[in-house]
Amino acid sequence: APGSPALTPPLGWNSWNSFGCNVSETAVRQAADAMVSSGMKDAGYQYVVVDDCWFDPQRDTQGALRGSPSKFPSGMKALGDYIHSRGLKFGIYQVPTERTCAQRTGTYPGSTGSAGHEAQDAQTFASWGVDYLKYDWCSPAGTRDEQVARFTVMRDALRATGRPIVYSINPNSYHAITGDKYNWGEVADLWRTTEDLLDIWQNGNTNSYPMGVGNVLDVTAPLAAQAGPGHWNDPDMLVVGRPGLSLTESRTHFALWALMAAPLMAGNDIRSMAADVSAILRNPRLLAVDQDRLGAGGRRVRDDGDVEVFAKPLADGSVAVGLLNRGGGTSTVGTTAAQIGLAGSAFTLTDLWTGGTSPTSGPITASVPAHGIAVYRVSGGTPLAATTSRLRGTGSGRC
Ligand code: GLA
Repeated sequence: APGSPALTPPLGWNSWNSFGCNVSETAVRQAADAMVSSGMKDAGYQYVVVDDCWFDPQRDTQGALRGSPSKFPSGMKALGDYIHSRGLKFGIYQVPTERTCAQRTGTYPGSTGSAGHEAQDAQTFASWGVDYLKYDWCSPAGTRDEQVARFTVMRDALRATGRPIVYSINPNSYHAITGDKYNWGEVADLWRTTEDLLDIWQNGNTNSYPMGVGNVLDVTAPLAAQAGPGHWNDPDMLVVGRPGLSLTESRTHFALWALMAAPLMAGNDIRSMAADVSAILRNPRLLAVDQDRLGAGGRRVRDDGDVEVFAKPLADGSVAVGLLNRGGGTSTVGTTAAQIGLAGSAFTLTDLWTGGTSPTSGPITASVPAHGIAVYRVSGGTPLAATTSRLRGTGSGRC
């Protein structure tokens, strides 16, 4: 949104995928510790986001939200202080409706949504040192106009606190309008593009819960022009390292999210992750692609069945390219410098997994295993004017 504190896509960790409603002060503090000790903080991760089920099911006598005394006995301000003491930022979850998603499904008691309490709740969050709000529609009801109105009320309430708070919205949960092309850039800093992503490679051609990596990709890739500094498509939290994905699939998922300029919120249990999973999350070359200051969303420039090519222009004139193989066997996947928007006759390919470099006169080809992706940074060329404006979304990107 205008004035956004998120000029690059936010990087962090969110409690939901690993802890669900069993989130606790202990778990979140340990996750903050792990973000530091694993090297994720040094790699650029900042936000520690406490998702659903953190609150007492009753507001206090003044109508204020408070943390669950059993799960967060030290209180939410103390949790924020702890997260800040580790050099990290504090995120929290709430809904614009009456009930959070867990309250709606009956997993958690009460009815503590922000409807009618927006100004008070925004002040409460600011007083706890909250730096990031995930605000989740979570209702089967509501037209698009109603959503825009309700999400805007909280945007303005957050602004009125004077504290820079990244505003992350989810218009899609429990909602049938997933994937429509509404551009939320004036309302929020990031917005979910789909229903929830689970650790599934591909769930048929569904646009509804539960989504796999391929399903979320198919909905989000066409929205690339909406991405830019302060306004990001959010293809949902990472399922990297979760049990339903192979290591190859986790790598592919991470690379695709970086190519889409997605917010990268780890969802695995980072306290106990394997070294190869940690290495995916901390890959400095892919994080640089995700965090590139131009903020372009990667476009799908080739789509031939199981073989797809993504191109993301970078601020220095180079282009990040992904050669994706969605099929069940190894495939040769190829593109050219011209197809990804570069003119010239001598280019350098930097393999974003290994850092190794190789020359090419234009063809960019790799043998890619099933569900794998080869990713390169292609430098040494000159951006082709026509393709560049299309790839960069000039004229259509600003919301
Ligand atoms: C919805 C959201 C998820 C998570 C849960 C919490 O499903 O889409 O990301 O926040 O609610 O209940």
